[in-house]
Amino acid sequence: MSKRILVVTGGGDCPGLNAVIRGIVKSAKLDGNWEVIGCIESYNGLLKDKIEVMPITEKEVSGIHIRGGTIIKTTNRGGPFNFPVQQSDGTWKTEDRSKLLLERLDDLGIEAIISIGGDGSQRISLELAKLGVNMVGVPKTIDNDLACTDFTFGFQTAVQIATEAIDKLVTTAESHNRVFILEVMGRDAGWIALHSALGGGADVCIIPEIMYDPAVIAKKIETRYFNGEGFCNIVIAEGARSSDGNIAGKSPTAIGEQHVKLGGAGDKLKYELEAAGVKHDIRVTVLGHLQRGGTPLAYDRILATAFGVKAFGLVKEKKYGNMVVYNHPEITYASLDEVVKKLNFINPQTNSLLWTAKKIGISFGD
Ligand code: F6P
Repeated sequence: MSKRILVVTGGGDCPGLNAVIRGIVKSAKLDGNWEVIGCIESYNGLLKDKIEVMPITEKEVSGIHIRGGTIIKTTNRGGPFNFPVQQSDGTWKTEDRSKLLLERLDDLGIEAIISIGGDGSQRISLELAKLGVNMVGVPKTIDNDLACTDFTFGFQTAVQIATEAIDKLVTTAESHNRVFILEVMGRDAGWIALHSALGGGADVCIIPEIMYDPAVIAKKIETRYFNGEGFCNIVIAEGARSSDGNIAGKSPTAIGEQHVKLGGAGDKLKYELEAAGVKHDIRVTVLGHLQRGGTPLAYDRILATAFGVKAFGLVKEKKYGNMVVYNHPEITYASLDEVVKKLNFINPQTNSLLWTAKKIGISFGD
């Protein structure tokens, strides 16, 4: 009898998810007696009243390494331990459906789960592992903020998209002598901002790890203008904090939503710069979900495929309770315990790319 692996994609979508699924399915097929089942919309496929899963064979994964999104859908709300349920009076409450999940895993004869997701998903992986589920994690996020791995897949694609956005903003900024602020994603980590600022040649890069002073940025802007002519390109991470200590965003509103909805850091900076006396025309562009959609770069397809193959390898060797990681040059693994202990932020004291950026005059507003 063949053994069954359940694949789950959780959290926000990310370029490369399909390439991971393809890597798992192809290597499982080559190995022989394995069936891969996809759980639809993260764990929801096994938590809803009606089960929604799909067998994933070589046919389903053919050519999907170049497709963005995930063929088995995803959600960043809820999960087995806080599943949103509508009450008879129309309100929503979350309930623990982990017991139901365990029963259904048993009914389906699932040997192990491969959970492809970010920090929230890997926290769920750890909790399920503690309940005796055979778990293997795969690190996914454009934010690159997962611990124990050099890179998560999806990050390089987001950086490329942000870099291309800066390239485009440079020509329009220069033509109009404007200041452009590009707001990029990344949650509380500045990786996308830092890498794209370097790739796109921004003048200012604002990251959550360094509190900025608008007056310092205002001064930097002036160095970019001579006799009224010039332009300035600023990249700001959505989780940026100015010296007032505040971040721009809204508290979670939907039931089962965990995070503050970040957004508005670019606009906030614009007003702060105007208040600090900047007279040049300032425009704000929010890149948003463009950073997550579309075709993954070759780099992410390759990393995602290697992660998928390794994840299957860990299942085969019964090395459960671990997440696949990239520690250059090895694709290896780390325990879920270690992975969820902390997030991966830029260390302003030691990060060599931040040092590089400073050495070419990029201001961090500090
Ligand atoms: O974690 C990935 C990410 O794209 C963050 O960079 C961003 O803050 C968040 O997800 C946006 O989530 P949503 O798709 O729910 O708006």
